[in-house]
Formats: sequence, structure tokens, C-alpha cells
Amino acid sequence: MTQDQSKLLAAKRATDLISDGMRVGLGTGTTSTFFIEELAKRVRSGLRLKAIATSTESERLATEQGIELTSFADSPVLDLTVDGADEIGPGLSLIKGGHGALLREKIIASAAKAFVVIADESKIVSTLGKFPLPVEVIQLAEPLVYRKLLDLGLNPMLRLVANGAVPWQTDEGNFILDCHCGSIQDPEKTAAEIRSIIGVVEHGLFLRMASMALIAGQDGVREVHPS
Ligand code: 5RP
Repeated sequence: MTQDQSKLLAAKRATDLISDGMRVGLGTGTTSTFFIEELAKRVRSGLRLKAIATSTESERLATEQGIELTSFADSPVLDLTVDGADEIGPGLSLIKGGHGALLREKIIASAAKAFVVIADESKIVSTLGKFPLPVEVIQLAEPLVYRKLLDLGLNPMLRLVANGAVPWQTDEGNFILDCHCGSIQDPEKTAAEIRSIIGVVEHGLFLRMASMALIAGQDGVREVHPS
């Protein structure tokens, strides 16, 4: 089974969790794209739901596919958010933000009664940190935050547009510093250290947030719970 086939399998399984009338948070990335497409098939067959997307990209896809969007003004509590992850560590600690949508992803995950992660099994790790940890920063503060992350030993690198020399910008117009940590021994401590830096908008450590992960591999999909 290819990695994409595994992602699709996990995405399909997640659509089983959606029932009529739900308010759903839609993730960003390749696995979430499969989820949005699979969910849209059910919508076209009569399932009624409203969604909030974690990026303009997912918002556009959802609209194209016929999924009705809502807002936090109309739907302050979501029933379920389904999203991918870059790394899934012990206790369902996560690194997210590979596609740069970490801020909205964290907001939308936090607004849901349940947050389900969908992934292929390559995302499971024993220690977080091999995947660069994204930190979203206000443009003005980027050089200051960069130095502070460097002092913390987190090895930051400014994310640039592909094949370009200009900084990549998030949907909110912020920059991303990708921290090449290697390994994050104490994610809670690292999260607190990053959060204390003025100019940081959000970081990609999602700790004690996920309710369940649906992990797909050769043997099908397995449910993983936080403890
Ligand atoms: C986007 C994310 C994605 O969920 C994460 O990057 C996984 O992406 P993919 O499903 O393409 O492997 O956090 O900001």
C-alpha cells in the first residue's frame, strides 16, 4: 500500500464519524484533502453538515466540492475537527503546521468537542522533533524571535517560498520559522519557552488536544487513544 493509499484509508474511516447536522472542522494538507473529498461525496448523497476550514486552500476545496461553510459567530462549538499531522508522538502529542496552517488549525481543533487526527503510520514517532517544528511569528518581530529561538537551541530557519528568496506567508500574513530541533525531549517545556517569546503568534506543538488518531497502514486502520 502506498502512503497516499494509507492517507485515503484513514480519511475514509474518519467520514464514518460524521453524522447528520454536525458542525465539522476541516484540516489542511494532503490527508485532509482526501477527507474533504470523501466527506463531500457523502454530502452530495444527502448528508447535511456545516464546516469551518483551517486554511483558505481547504475552504476553497470544500466550497468547490459542495460543502456548506459556517463561521464561529454562527457555530461557536464544533462537533468534530478532523486534521492531519506531521508527527504523532506519545500521548498523541503532535507536530503540525507543515503546510503552514498551524494557527487556524489550533483554533479550530480547540473549538471542537473532539479532535481526530488522520495519518498514515509513517507519522508515528517515539520522540517529537525530527520534523521541523513551525513557529508562526509577526513579520516585524521575526529577527527578534529568530535570535531567541536560536538561544534556546531550537535551530530556526525562516520558511521561504518554493524556489524563491522571499519569506513564505501564512493566511494571516505572518512568517514561519521552522525549528530544526532534532528531538524534543520535553514538549511541554519547549512549548512554554516558545510561547513566552513576544512576537510569537503560535507554535506547531499540539499537546493534550487530540482525542483519537486514525492510523492507516498495511493492516488497515487502527484507533490510537491518548493514554
Ligand atoms: C498543515 C498540517 C498538516 O496536517 C500536516 O502538515 C500533515 O500534512 P499531510 O497530510 O500532507 O501529510 O499540519 O499545516
